[in-house]
Amino acid sequence: MELPKNILITGASGLIGTQLTSLLNARNANVFHLGRSAKSGNSYQWNVNKGIIDPEALKGKDAIVHLAGANVGDKRWTTARKQEILKSRTESTRLLYDKLKNSTHTVKHFISASAIGYYGFENEEKWYSEDSAPGNDFMASVTRAWEEEVDKIESLGIRVVKLRIGIVLSAEGGALKEIARPVKLFVGAPLGSGRQPVSWIHIDDVCGIFLKALEDPAMRGPYNAVAPDPVDNKTLTRAIGRALHRPVVLPPVPAIVLKAMIGEMATVVVTGTRISAKKITDAGYQFKFTRIDDAVTNLLS
Ligand SMILES: NC(=O)c1ccc[n+]([C@@H]2O[C@H](COP(=O)([O-])OP(=O)(O)OC[C@H]3O[C@@H](n4cnc5c(N)ncnc54)[C@H](OP(=O)(O)O)[C@@H]3O)[C@@H](O)[C@H]2O)c1
Repeated sequence: MELPKNILITGASGLIGTQLTSLLNARNANVFHLGRSAKSGNSYQWNVNKGIIDPEALKGKDAIVHLAGANVGDKRWTTARKQEILKSRTESTRLLYDKLKNSTHTVKHFISASAIGYYGFENEEKWYSEDSAPGNDFMASVTRAWEEEVDKIESLGIRVVKLRIGIVLSAEGGALKEIARPVKLFVGAPLGSGRQPVSWIHIDDVCGIFLKALEDPAMRGPYNAVAPDPVDNKTLTRAIGRALHRPVVLPPVPAIVLKAMIGEMATVVVTGTRISAKKITDAGYQFKFTRIDDAVTNLLS
């Protein structure tokens, strides 16, 4: 199995793209970025709203890793923000499809981020696999529409892999930083019922799965990118407390309070799903972190 040589990453300035770029550089791949602002070096610019992409961006590339999308946890979900969350994913993918369709290119692999939000948040007891039906809430409809655009790229004869990513734990940002902040200040508490599942994954493993998807021609279609052992929200919060040597003794913050504070976005933290890692494990991926305590201790200490 060989890593494609020339790899274009969209949204590469984000949490996953930054670490993935370092790992690919360390493996001697030629990494190029496609982003909203012009930067020096191997960077190209695009404007998804205007349908503009640097014509040089696709030239000579063997693979595209598609990570771009407005952050789901950054801002309150107003109607305008929800449109941005959706369109930054669907329209960016459609723009790539159009440019690939209408140009002579050498792209053979298209590895796209997706999210476990695909399955919706309806049943906390059920295990969801890649064959499970999509859900009906906002994030499920966004993810489904995004994947439908990604699937079209397969019709161009390009190998497509969709990684349905879980809650990424990283020391640099994302969910872990947000949950750890009150814990550090001795006011950490589980959220909602505290019993909702958290299908987490260590940033090293997300990047490891992207690397495998790039180099393994047998991988096609959707794969859940989650650690094999989801935990509940209370267990995660307590693991963070142990790693930071802080007690977590306060009662859970009720869902109604979180909804009043951050609106509909609260559904992402007060609900959760148990997502299976069987397909990616069967494909031969070996996780670095399977236990929440090991993952959190590695990142926080
Ligand atoms: N982190 C997680 O827990 C998680 C979980 C599930 C799924 N995912 C998905 O995986 C992908 C990468 O995640 P991440 O955590 O690295 O995301 P991130 O840190 O939010 O970075 C996403 C990147 O997308 C680009 N972007 C932002 N707004 C955009 C817009 N309106 N239009 C076009 N591009 C835009 C930005 O790159 P430029 O500024 O360079 O353009 C940004 O750095 C995302 O699509 C995310 O939904 C992440």
